[in-house]
Amino acid sequence: MLVLGIETSCDETGLALYDSEEGLLADELFSQIDIHQAYGGVVPELASRDHADRILPLLNNLLKKTGKLLDEVDLVAYTAGPGLKGCLLVGSTFARTLSYIIDKPIISINHIEAHLLAPFMEYPELSFPFFGLLISGGHTMIIDAKSIGDYEIMGETLDDALGEAFDKTAKLMGLDYPGGPLIEKLAKDGVTGSYKFPRPILNKPNCDFSFSGLKTHIMLTWKASEKTEQVQKNISLELQNSVTDCLVGKLKRAHNEKYYPVIVISGGVSANQFIRDKLTNFAHSINAKAYYPTKKFCTDNGAMIAYAGYKKYEAGQIYDLKGEVKPRWPLDQLA
Ligand code: KG4
Ligand code: ZN
Repeated sequence: MLVLGIETSCDETGLALYDSEEGLLADELFSQIDIHQAYGGVVPELASRDHADRILPLLNNLLKKTGKLLDEVDLVAYTAGPGLKGCLLVGSTFARTLSYIIDKPIISINHIEAHLLAPFMEYPELSFPFFGLLISGGHTMIIDAKSIGDYEIMGETLDDALGEAFDKTAKLMGLDYPGGPLIEKLAKDGVTGSYKFPRPILNKPNCDFSFSGLKTHIMLTWKASEKTEQVQKNISLELQNSVTDCLVGKLKRAHNEKYYPVIVISGGVSANQFIRDKLTNFAHSINAKAYYPTKKFCTDNGAMIAYAGYKKYEAGQIYDLKGEVKPRWPLDQLA
């Protein structure tokens, strides 16, 4: 079965072809970072216009690269939410038009579920149930993933997402958007113990997170500091230390409630090697194994949508929202 995946939920236009026999054939991605950088964050109107401009040329590239014809596609999978409404509508309309032209089924994919399933593409041994830790620019949550389509949210952020904590810290120190990769680079030369940042709600007996207080604390620290690159490096390192302690602490709580030997970590922030190393060590300490997508598939992409389309179709979970999109679409309300 040949599945075309279409991702347009935020600031990346992603298309991919996944073949159930041969695996991922190719993927095409256009990142709008340069467009939004001047504004320090994603501008929804600019994002949706750019998706509309890019999507057809990307499809042409994908077909050319793989030597496939549109007619050979058996299933069209697209992100129906959560995300920015105008952006989602571009992908939905495009997917619906293609499915109509080639007369093949269409499937609406939840972006968060696609992030969670992404590592399955590369690790055939992975199976349900597992703990999911989704850390992205829009979401931060611990998920009890019981079986495909059956998820319970054990805890989530009460305010900012983890990616936002990185992006906002970068912005206040005068760095470009998105801040995550820049903070990671700076942190490598930071001096441990330069600051003692809080670990918000780490001691609360639940699996929730909170990052907005940390951001305020960092803002006050930055205001009171000399504006040097070494200070940026030290703040970056201590930000990573603080949030990693929170992630490990809350995963520990989840594992005290229930034990699974597998933790799947995905979403844009899971590209961070410092965080990966700490979470991998934690997983070893409780005889579990941590899985991550390949770095290029941590952030938004079409491959994870094509793959999720195949897995959902295989499981008989074929939702079609018929032109409706869901800017908010909680993982525990898929059906
Ligand atoms: O999953 P994603 O592409 O989009 C959402 O669905 O939100 O995640 C984007 C987020 C941004 O906040 C970005 O700063 C963060 O992921 N990010 C990182 C790294 N690479 C991307 N954060 C920390 N370290 C990184 N290396
Ligand atoms: Zn995402």
